[in-house]
Amino acid sequence: MSESNYIIAPSILSANFATLGKEVVNVLSAGADWIHFDVMDNHYVPNLTIGPMVCKSLRDFGVKEFIDVHLMIDPVDELAQSFIKAGADLISFHPEASKHVHRSIHAIKDQDCKAGLVFNPASSLDILENVIEDLDLVLIMSVNPGFGGQSFIHSSLDKIEKVRKMIDETGKDIRLEVDGGINKDTINLAAQAGADTFVAGSAIFNTDNYEQTISTLRAQIT
Ligand code: DX5
Ligand code: ZN
Repeated sequence: MSESNYIIAPSILSANFATLGKEVVNVLSAGADWIHFDVMDNHYVPNLTIGPMVCKSLRDFGVKEFIDVHLMIDPVDELAQSFIKAGADLISFHPEASKHVHRSIHAIKDQDCKAGLVFNPASSLDILENVIEDLDLVLIMSVNPGFGGQSFIHSSLDKIEKVRKMIDETGKDIRLEVDGGINKDTINLAAQAGADTFVAGSAIFNTDNYEQTISTLRAQIT
């Protein structure tokens, strides 16, 4: 894969919510490709974050770049539709949170939004065999969902390798994203295993110079 095809998606979970619009503009002008928008409901995960109104506010603020919405909520379908109306470009969800995964995927795609499926560290990939061709993105969690700033779980690398093979077998343009504990020491491990899209929250937003941090992250990928 060519270097230009790697995507860095800062997770706004670690941004300053009091100045979120400026944070997003700053991180995009510092070289970020996508904005990763973490949605938590204090039910599927123990934490609580932001909903579709905040996504719409970012669009109204002038943000035109790709917004990658990661739903950590149960149920999925109704809020997924609200996020599409709020301007999401891609919506990914956890299969455990939907009773009918195929239906949830197609309810997103029918509205001309991209769809992704997310796998936790302890989740089996079995369901992926049945729906991979319908997806635009597979997201492998390299931490348990719910919080920023956790350590990378190395067993996720095997899972990334497996999904890389599955995606290549489809011959389709499906992105392979990794989320959790990505920093300058782990990004290339994930890239070598086959990931092409990298979420990083604390590793970017907890630094002073976003441009330098993003270029350092990119430079690690060999
Ligand atoms: C965790 C979220 C992640 C999180 C990553 O549930 O899905 O996107 O913000 O944070 P870092 O990069 O700090 O591990
Ligand atoms: Zn996330």
